Amino acid sequence: MQHYQTIRGVQVPALGFGTWPLKGDECREAVRDALAAGYRHVDTARMYGNEEDVGRGMQEGGVPREQVFLTTKLWYTELTRAKVTDALHSSLRRLQTEYVDLLLVHWPNPEVPLGETMEAMTALQQQGKVRQVGVSNFPPALLEEALGYAPVFCNQVEYHPLLAQTALLELCRTNDVLLTAYSPIAHGAVTEEPVLQDLGRKYGKSPVQLTLRWLVQQPRVAAIPKAASPDRRRQNLDIFDFELTPAEMEQVFGLARGKRLINPHHAPAW
Ligand SMILES: NC(=O)c1ccc[n+]([C@@H]2O[C@H](COP(=O)([O-])OP(=O)(O)OC[C@H]3O[C@@H](n4cnc5c(N)ncnc54)[C@H](OP(=O)(O)O)[C@@H]3O)[C@@H](O)[C@H]2O)c1
Repeated sequence: MQHYQTIRGVQVPALGFGTWPLKGDECREAVRDALAAGYRHVDTARMYGNEEDVGRGMQEGGVPREQVFLTTKLWYTELTRAKVTDALHSSLRRLQTEYVDLLLVHWPNPEVPLGETMEAMTALQQQGKVRQVGVSNFPPALLEEALGYAPVFCNQVEYHPLLAQTALLELCRTNDVLLTAYSPIAHGAVTEEPVLQDLGRKYGKSPVQLTLRWLVQQPRVAAIPKAASPDRRRQNLDIFDFELTPAEMEQVFGLARGKRLINPHHAPAW
């Protein structure tokens, strides 16, 4: 049974399906199957080059549109007013939908005034084409700046047991912002951690399941693991029948050691 995080009165399925770097028929089939397995939260981006495949997978999945929380993202080179609007319209066409639940700025771009981008996004929100607006890869100070321009719903960032996000989590809680954890299982590196292996054994779960449970058990945190394999997709969703104790939660927090996996040239300083 899926859990939800409630942000600004809106319920978001806490465990979503990440689609990067899936493409073509593999992506279409993965999204169709993810919906069949019970996922109701799907993450894509213009840069992934798979919006059309995600859209086809959603059509084939046959789940009513309003039951799926769909996110896409604007690339950092398309953050001016005119480009935001054009980009979103082409995303909606590719996704074969009238609206997205969440539109994110994929990466900050210091060359475009943030206020201009956020205003263009909130205009799309007022037109009903975007239900919520948000950001991704925004360190705390930038998130605070964004909150000055718009009711930011989400900040999607790298977050897993090997990389702490303490300051950002605090800011998200005080401002009712969702922190969506990407690369939530550190590309599988969590399987090597003895603490996660031991706790997993206690609950009859894998270190990956333990990790995903630890994430979604935190207030205002969602996670979007990607799995090309249908079995792993189902395992990743099978995390809602056990609960970590506060001491066990702390044990996993103790594994953080600044291991950042995603750090492209356009990334902000953390
Ligand atoms: N906003 C951003 O800038 C940003 C950046 C990166 C990612 N993202 C989003 O976050 C999503 C997830 O991040 P990610 O793909 O970087 O990393 P991830 O979800 O941490 O790791 C994906 C890898 O873990 C493997 N895996 C999945 N489930 C597993 C399981 N139960 N046991 C063992 N291995 C398992 C997958 O294998 P198989 O696929 O072979 O099954 C894949 O190789 C992306 O798909 C994307 O939607 C966003």
